[in-house]
Parts: sequence; structure tokens; C-alpha cells
Amino acid sequence: MLVLVFVAVSSNADMLDKTGMAPWEVCALCHGADGVSVMPKFPKLAGQKAAYIESQVLRFRHGERMNDGGQMQTISAEVELGDLADISRYFAELPVRDPVDKGILAAEFPPEEYLIRVERGRKLFYQGDKNVPACVVCHADKNSQAPWLDGQHRAYIEKQLIDFRDGNRRDFIIGKMPAIAANLTSFDREAIALFVESERISRN
Ligand code: HEC
Ligand code: HEC
Repeated sequence: MLVLVFVAVSSNADMLDKTGMAPWEVCALCHGADGVSVMPKFPKLAGQKAAYIESQVLRFRHGERMNDGGQMQTISAEVELGDLADISRYFAELPVRDPVDKGILAAEFPPEEYLIRVERGRKLFYQGDKNVPACVVCHADKNSQAPWLDGQHRAYIEKQLIDFRDGNRRDFIIGKMPAIAANLTSFDREAIALFVESERISRN
């Protein structure tokens, strides 16, 4: 049943009969009812900052963020604006997503290679490097409007960094992400993404 509904949503969202559905249920088809999506192409929303969720939905709706393959543009155009605050709060209040099990990730790499990457990711996150500011300053701060990254799908993180670098996504909030992404090598992108997916990062 869910599969049928999913097909209807992705091809033509307004054919879906939303009677009796909570407004976030349509989002749950891709992002998961617990906000922990299964497919890495759909970012996890559980525990994300409500203001960030709301602002991104509006970016998609206004055609200012267009790196989603069109799915968010369709859905965001159909969201009742009066529901957006409730939808964002629903996902924001879900339990923070857990980091992905390190054993599972490490098994994907030759011995040592996983640790080399995670340690490089940790260094970039907390200390930065030449021309790369420490991510922690914005991404672990409750008072910053930057999104939480921890526990996010690593393929999604890597894609966003490439999209920022290539000009396919803009940073409307602080304006620094394209320049930061331009200074990351592909190894650094992989390292950062592995680090944030598998480590619990304390939030200030
Ligand atoms: C048909 C699948 C689909 C549905 C349904 C859907 N989304 Fe998305 N969503 C996506 C995709 C794909 C992306 C972006 C992937 C990318 O940028 O590469 C995305 C991105 C987002 C982001 C950006 C997250 C971030 O970390 O920047 C937010 C917020 C979001 N969606 C909220 C919602 C909300 C709220 C709803 C319901 C009103 C919803 N989505 C419904 C597919 C979907
Ligand atoms: C000066 C603050 C700042 C710093 C430092 C910073 N970021 Fe960001 N980052 C942001 C903001 C703000 C956004 C959201 C921009 C928008 O969508 O308008 C963002 C978005 C992102 C996203 C997209 C997340 C999502 O859910 O879609 C990724 C990935 C990211 N940053 C990675 C990094 C990495 C890796 C570093 C460190 C090497 C870093 N950022 C350093 C402010 C910052």
C-alpha cells in the first residue's frame, strides 16, 4: 500500500487524497515517519532545527533551492503554508537520530582506511585546516541557523558539498558554504561525511 501511495506522490502529488492525514504524513513517505529516512537521497529530518526545516521548504517552494531532482519542488508547492510550522516542529521534536554503527561503516573499507578518514573528518570538523574553517563553529551551535549534520546520511552530505561547490545550491543564511566546499578535496568530503554520520557530536 505504501508503495502505491509513494508512486502517486512522486509522479503527481496532487492526485493523493490527503483527507484524514496529518500534514507531515506526506513528508514521511520519503523522509520517514520517524524522520529517519532509509534511502540516502532523502535527508533525515529527525531532530533537525525547526527554523531550518521551514526555511528549506520555502527555498524549494520559491525555486531558490533546486538541487532535489524536482521532488521537493513539487511537494513544497502543495504544502498549506498554515501547516508548515506544525510540520517543522513535528520533525524537530522527534528523537535525535543516532549515529550509524561504526562497525558497519568500517566494514566497507580496508582495515585502517576507515579510521584514517574518520580522524581526518574529526580534524576538519573541530579544527578546520588551511582555508577551511572548523565546521563546529556553526554546525554544533544551537544559536546558529546552520543545520545539524550529525547522524545524516553520508551520501547526502557529500552531495550537498558538491552542490555548494558547483553552484547548484546557495547558502542563503550565512553565505559561506560555497567557498568552504570549494576548498574540500574529494577525500575530505568523504572523511567529513563519514565522521558526521558515525560520531555523536555534542551540541553547544
Ligand atoms: C517524494 C519524496 C519527498 C517528499 C514526499 C518530501 N521530500 Fe523533502 N526532500 C526530498 C529530496 C529528494 C530532498 C533533497 C535532496 C538533495 O538536496 O539532494 C529533500 C530535502 C528536504 C529538506 C532539506 C533538508 C536539509 O537537510 O537541507 C527538507 C527540510 C525537506 N525535504 C522537508 C520536507 C517536508 C517538510 C516534506 C513534506 C511537506 C517533504 N520534505 C516531502 C524528497 C521528498
Ligand atoms: C560560518 C558558518 C558555517 C561554517 C563554518 C560551516 N558551515 Fe556548513 N552550513 C552553514 C549554513 C548556514 C548552512 C545552510 C545554508 C543554506 O541552506 O542556506 C550550511 C549547510 C551545510 C550542509 C548542508 C546540510 C544539509 O542538511 O543540507 C553541509 C553538508 C555543510 N554545511 C557542511 C559543512 C562542513 C563540512 C563544514 C566544515 C568544513 C561547514 N559546513 C562549515 C554554515 C556553516
